Amino acid sequence: MTTRLLPRAGWALLCLALPIAAACSPAAAAGEATLTIQYGRALHAVSPTLYGLMTEAINHSYDGGLYAELIRDRVFFRREHHKFIKIWSLDQNAEDGMSWAIDDDSGPSTALPYSLRLTAAQATPGDPGGIDNPGYWGVPVWPHTTYHASIYLKAGRHNPGPVSMEIVNAASGKVLARATLGPAGAHWRRYAATMRTGDVPESENNFIRITVQHPGSVLMNLPSLFPPTYHGQPNGDRIDLMRKLAALHPKFLRFPGGNFLEGQTLADWYDWKITVGPLVDRPTHRSPWGYESSDGMGLLEFLQWCQDLHMQPVLAVYAGYALDGKHISPGPQLRPYVKDALEEIQYVTGSTSTHWGAVRARDGHPAPFPLHYVEIGNEDFFDKSGSYSGPHGRFAQFARAIRKAYPGLKVIATMPVKGPVQPDVIDEHFYKSPRAFFKDAHHFDHVSRKGPKIFVGEWATIQGTPTPDFGAALSDAAWMTGLERNSDVVIMASYAPLFVNVNPLASQWPTNLIGYDALHSFGSPSYYAQRMFSRYLGNQVVASTLTGAGPLCFESVTRDAATQTLYVKIVNAAARPQALTLHIEEAAEVAHAGTLVTLRANSTHAHNSLAHPERIVPHARRVHWFGHTVHHVFPAYSISVLEMHVRP
Ligand code: AHR
Repeated sequence: MTTRLLPRAGWALLCLALPIAAACSPAAAAGEATLTIQYGRALHAVSPTLYGLMTEAINHSYDGGLYAELIRDRVFFRREHHKFIKIWSLDQNAEDGMSWAIDDDSGPSTALPYSLRLTAAQATPGDPGGIDNPGYWGVPVWPHTTYHASIYLKAGRHNPGPVSMEIVNAASGKVLARATLGPAGAHWRRYAATMRTGDVPESENNFIRITVQHPGSVLMNLPSLFPPTYHGQPNGDRIDLMRKLAALHPKFLRFPGGNFLEGQTLADWYDWKITVGPLVDRPTHRSPWGYESSDGMGLLEFLQWCQDLHMQPVLAVYAGYALDGKHISPGPQLRPYVKDALEEIQYVTGSTSTHWGAVRARDGHPAPFPLHYVEIGNEDFFDKSGSYSGPHGRFAQFARAIRKAYPGLKVIATMPVKGPVQPDVIDEHFYKSPRAFFKDAHHFDHVSRKGPKIFVGEWATIQGTPTPDFGAALSDAAWMTGLERNSDVVIMASYAPLFVNVNPLASQWPTNLIGYDALHSFGSPSYYAQRMFSRYLGNQVVASTLTGAGPLCFESVTRDAATQTLYVKIVNAAARPQALTLHIEEAAEVAHAGTLVTLRANSTHAHNSLAHPERIVPHARRVHWFGHTVHHVFPAYSISVLEMHVRP
């Protein structure tokens, strides 16, 4: 017996239970296609690590993004003619003769040897003077919320007394919260306090002000202000963004890049050692994306992020190549970097009886982190000298040393390599137009199963700015059907870039998965497509054959044998509905009800935004049918998953 999918409300009206979407679509359905599913024939396992995250400091992903610090350019230092002090401003209206300057001779640490000297000629409690920081395009304020403020201070010749840190509303000038820090002593020291907002409305049009109330001068560096963070972690992450990531059920995190790992020049390499330990010992470094990285999100914070979301780290180690095309020659010159990578792995995995494991414990995390994959470099196919891929190249030198010290680790290369030292996995990147991804959705169907496994470490349809539109989500989903069907060879995949601060001039990349400003965030249609794909996924790929469908119809069928659940994903990227008959063969019993989840839009240009964060989100409903054959008309421009219980 065959049946059409019935929404629960239509159960009694079998005669009206016609293709749900066809009824609301102006275009006629394409000719009926058939998907024959051999439920009993599992082709291979779905990789248990298939869907994960890739991250790097781009688009203000961390500073001004996931890393919850609210003060922008919190380190005062001398580089590039005070460029990084420019975001700050001296309180214009104070009638107290305020002045400021970088002090070259004094700072709170070796890593931060400079400071800002703030001098007030005649400040009073009624007319304080100070400096303002705009935050990252505003400062988020919520009612009845506690913020953690801190700063390093040292008194100048005349001590002006305590220093105030305030959140001020830019429109009203009202102080919404205040903390008192200090007074500074004769030596550098960190001062910390909390501040709390009252019964104020949520807002982001705010700035941070640091003031003194008496004449004198004070040296300062590393002012910091944190709102509540995910799991209440000190130096932690933004709650809304972490929740959005958690909903993706990611299995791994590839970090720290991307180009961020390499740096623009050899001098800008990702030196993990300057990203760990107390913040005052992190000198910051120049990222290739045009702004200084505070490195508040350092190696341990990446690992903590993995722990919080139950992801395994995929650690990319610096491999001696810079974006300007220069490289460090394999051999003795590269040796210090290989040593550094081994030490980094020890920091991640070593017990506290090892040197770097003990340093990690000192930094606050005695337990080692699980680590299975180490990636050597990033996109080394750009290195036309061949220094990476030769039998004695950079990859071989790193891989040999890593395997010798850590035989259990799998090494990932960023391109095919020659010679006997072969990678376990190769990282391949795909940034394409929708049309190219549709054409390439079967890319992995025919790749060799004999070579290394494949990690699609970066991929995305480039269409839509700052986040993908629905047309991009459709081709992303089409591409993901190919990843799933071939997850015997594609063992991991991660969309990139993950984050974008949507404020003007905050981003460097056109199409990014999750957008935000200081206060709010939203998932793009591609984000929701990924959520559906990772949430509704079996652990085995089931044999299936699709016939008679239009060229923009894509499918993936997986099952979970233990729970006897079948997941049928259909992407109909065409402008008209696709009628489809599902034949479920080799199954004793097919339940008469299931869940149909649909993500759709009326146009490929439809998108989500801060103003309309949930215009395009998946909708789930119970559907009913009889027997082993199901008819359904999949709407134009739709991504659907049918979850059903099947007994073999
Ligand atoms: O994801 C943006 C960039 O694209 C990455 O930094 C780099 O690896 C790739 O070229």
